[in-house]
Amino acid sequence: MHIALGADHAGFHLKDSLKRTLDELGATYQDFGTASAESVDYPDFAQAVAHGVASGQCDRGILVCGTGIGMAIAANKVPGIRAAAIVDTDTATLSREHNDLNVLTLGARVTPEIRAREIVKVFLATPFAGGRHATRVAKIEGA
Ligand code: RB5
Repeated sequence: MHIALGADHAGFHLKDSLKRTLDELGATYQDFGTASAESVDYPDFAQAVAHGVASGQCDRGILVCGTGIGMAIAANKVPGIRAAAIVDTDTATLSREHNDLNVLTLGARVTPEIRAREIVKVFLATPFAGGRHATRVAKIEGA
């Protein structure tokens, strides 16, 4: 699986540490920035990652900011993106099974690194359940 990675200054360190998790899982990634802890605007990175996923260049995206919330709001403006700020492994599982989440957003200021790693593992390993959920997801896209 090829992952689009992005963060703002608040998420920069967690984004970098999650690369090790992706390596352990055998996933490849493209880093869309930011490249330092210098202050930046999170929508710039949310849009870059969202377009990377929506275009098919990457299979899924992971975005990190302070809370995960701004990244989710911005990424969801791109058609075809289903992004949510996830804070535990239960909702990570259900976001994949029921919502076919394709962009995971994390909050580096609210989620400990060890939990973020577990959330990423679940996000990558859990398949979409399809069936009645596929009908509902299609309605999100306007089908
Ligand atoms: C940056 O201070 C912070 O606002 C941003 O990382 C994010 O939490 C926004 O949702």
